[in-house]
Amino acid sequence: MEDRTLILGACGQIGTELVTRLRKQLGKDKVVASDIRPPEDDKLGEGPFEIIDATNYFALEDVIAHYEIHTVYLMAAMLSATAEKFPMKAWHLNMNSLFNVLNLAKEKKIEKIFWPSSIAVFGPDTPDTAPQQGIIEPNTVYGISKLAGEHWCNYYSEKFGVDVRSIRYPGLISWKTAPGGGTTDYAIAIYKEALEKGSYQSYLSANSTLPMMYMDDAIDATLQLMNSDTAVRGKAYNIRSMSISPADMEQSIKEQIPDFKCTYKPDFRQKIADSWPSDVEDQDAQIEWNWKPKFDLQKTTQEMLNALRD
Ligand SMILES: NC(=O)c1ccc[n+]([C@@H]2O[C@H](COP(=O)([O-])OP(=O)(O)OC[C@H]3O[C@@H](n4cnc5c(N)ncnc54)[C@H](O)[C@@H]3O)[C@@H](O)[C@H]2O)c1
Repeated sequence: MEDRTLILGACGQIGTELVTRLRKQLGKDKVVASDIRPPEDDKLGEGPFEIIDATNYFALEDVIAHYEIHTVYLMAAMLSATAEKFPMKAWHLNMNSLFNVLNLAKEKKIEKIFWPSSIAVFGPDTPDTAPQQGIIEPNTVYGISKLAGEHWCNYYSEKFGVDVRSIRYPGLISWKTAPGGGTTDYAIAIYKEALEKGSYQSYLSANSTLPMMYMDDAIDATLQLMNSDTAVRGKAYNIRSMSISPADMEQSIKEQIPDFKCTYKPDFRQKIADSWPSDVEDQDAQIEWNWKPKFDLQKTTQEMLNALRD
């Protein structure tokens, strides 16, 4: 089998950056980018690109055979805020795309899978700093799909020996691609509007503290987990770098743009944010595969403002 990698949902916020990083690491022709829509970023077209619906098992099977794919990163999903509006569509996409890749691995058509979970698996009864294991009772459509996904990954790993690896990503902050309808999208818009308008109206309240992470750390964690010999298969790991609120971000931006003004008008996403913990414990990831973040809020703000100014 050729050691090629396929990314499903490659045009999204994480997929775009993952493709770039993997192509740098493995070579352009070794990484096949794919999505249900054509790429907006020219970079994705610098290597193989395929239009694929991740819920279509036979389309996936064909592409995997054609390119002799070894590893699949499944990034296609419907995110938290959009999923509350379209529950059945979210369930269909989030679960069927996962079953497709798990079954392809069970049938030995691929060797290795990355599937992202989320801090959205936690619910209102989870302690404010969420442990790796404990009360995990989500009350959002997206969170329910992620928790079910975690159980299925564990089941396929234990029952069929499938090598599937997973991280519960916090809210991710990045500038290359627009975010895809999550509850933490404010953390990207706030930087853009600070530069464009000098002001921002947050749809989360000032003190809504959530686990967040700069994209470079999230990509590092993903690749580190995928290359680890010691990480537990089928386990969705908590990882952390910062626990911050819109008010913390406002303050951090004001250090660079003193006239920046932020106002607060919570909408339906506030309820989703309120159901999530404000921080997570990530000792398992630290011990089992040596996880360490590089970006705090100050460094993230510098990177975001510099990149967006350019
Ligand atoms: N971005 C975050 O802050 C965050 C946090 C936690 C977990 N995650 C998880 O990480 C993964 C990627 O998130 P993202 O932020 O890049 O999402 P995104 O919404 O930015 O990208 C998802 C991509 O999937 C594509 N897609 C939709 N339906 C498809 C289908 N049927 N077949 C193929 N592609 C399809 C979309 O066109 C889009 O390009 C998701 O599983 C998400 O739940 C993201």
